[in-house]
Amino acid sequence: MGRVKIKGAKNACLPMMAASLLTPESVVLEDVPELEDVRTMSRLLKALGVEIFRDRKNERIVLNSRRLITSTAPFGPVRRMRASFLVMGPLLAREGHSRVSFPGGCAIGTRPIDLHLKGLELMGAQFTMDEGYIEAETPCLHGATVYLDYPSVGATENILMAAVLARGTTVIENAAAEPEVVDLANFLNSLGARIIGAGTPLIRVEGVTSLKGGRYRVIPDRIEAGTFMIAAAITGGDIILENVISEHLTAVIAKLQETGTLVEEPQKGMLRVRSRGRPVPVDIKTLPYPGFPTDLQPQFMALLSLAFGTSVISETVFEKRFMHVAEMARMGAKIRIEERTAIVTGQPLLQGAAVRAPDLRGGAALVLSALAARGISEIRGVEHIRRGYSRLIGRLRSLGGRVYLLPS
Ligand code: UD1
Repeated sequence: MGRVKIKGAKNACLPMMAASLLTPESVVLEDVPELEDVRTMSRLLKALGVEIFRDRKNERIVLNSRRLITSTAPFGPVRRMRASFLVMGPLLAREGHSRVSFPGGCAIGTRPIDLHLKGLELMGAQFTMDEGYIEAETPCLHGATVYLDYPSVGATENILMAAVLARGTTVIENAAAEPEVVDLANFLNSLGARIIGAGTPLIRVEGVTSLKGGRYRVIPDRIEAGTFMIAAAITGGDIILENVISEHLTAVIAKLQETGTLVEEPQKGMLRVRSRGRPVPVDIKTLPYPGFPTDLQPQFMALLSLAFGTSVISETVFEKRFMHVAEMARMGAKIRIEERTAIVTGQPLLQGAAVRAPDLRGGAALVLSALAARGISEIRGVEHIRRGYSRLIGRLRSLGGRVYLLPS
């Protein structure tokens, strides 16, 4: 039986890094994974004048935003990673001005930013667009009631961060309730912010005049945990995951159990996942938290491509998140796409093939398919996978997977 320790959550530490812009004092984040996206955020913050010290051995990062040199977030990092847009709210709150390039990131849909802008506008920001940049200005941010048409994670976080230093009370209605939003709120509260209701659709923020520094440990990455759980299920494995919060994985655990996989919590913070052979087909619908996470849809599809029967996967969060399907077909998966639905006809086995990771989670799904497939697979586009998984290959190998990194 293999064991794997889950790292800190990428999607929790990226907004926290951006939130360090809100205080002139030092912030220490612990359990920060060694990821390309973390490096991109560091590069962006350094360009703004943030001093960053990275203690790799202890997965710790120290940020100090005492002296900012600009409030313009350059095109390079923002293009590479959508989460870069999270500097908009904090910069605006701290400097009264921010200029951020239109965001990039995984090509999984149009991914607009209208909700971010709507919220900040209600709080007193004025926007202009020029040369691919969005410029925001305000003499003073004030509290407002912001109803989000969709519980966007990024919009909730941007508005939340701006609201912390705004004058008066901000209420975010239909807010995202993802554990990463809660972790951001807990982190900000530890610095002196006054946020209540994070984790529910109604968040209330009483603005304060300043934040202090502090030290904070990031929650474990539920998407990384889910990926390893599916890896065990797809390979007929039996593994133990350490450093997990099972409450963050309820939908994933329920769906894995429906496929016939055994999932137990031998002790708090630990999960044991055991395959019981070929999975039973199940239907999946991705939804905002606590629904099934879109970030595990491709990996779960890999598992279902080996089920004995047909499964239906509805992707309701991102409209184009089926880019991995064409690559999985090269391995013999039988998947038909109808708009936002994938009909997966399980096959008795997959065949190794040369494939290309189309995006971060799609790339993870290909790795899992390749582990289960007969024969050798060659996966290109590993840089996508590196954005969100730290040492995935080495850790899969320590669990018994035969996977190697080829020199590029
Ligand atoms: C975050 C996660 C990402 C995850 C996603 C959904 C980070 C760094 N990334 O991304 O891994 O897949 O949540 O759980 O935390 N939308 C709008 N207008 C907006 C903002 C979003 O229409 O202003 C739409 C998007 O196009 C998408 C949906 O809302 O269809 C969800 O997006 P959102 O929750 O904002 O995702 P991100 O914060 O980008």
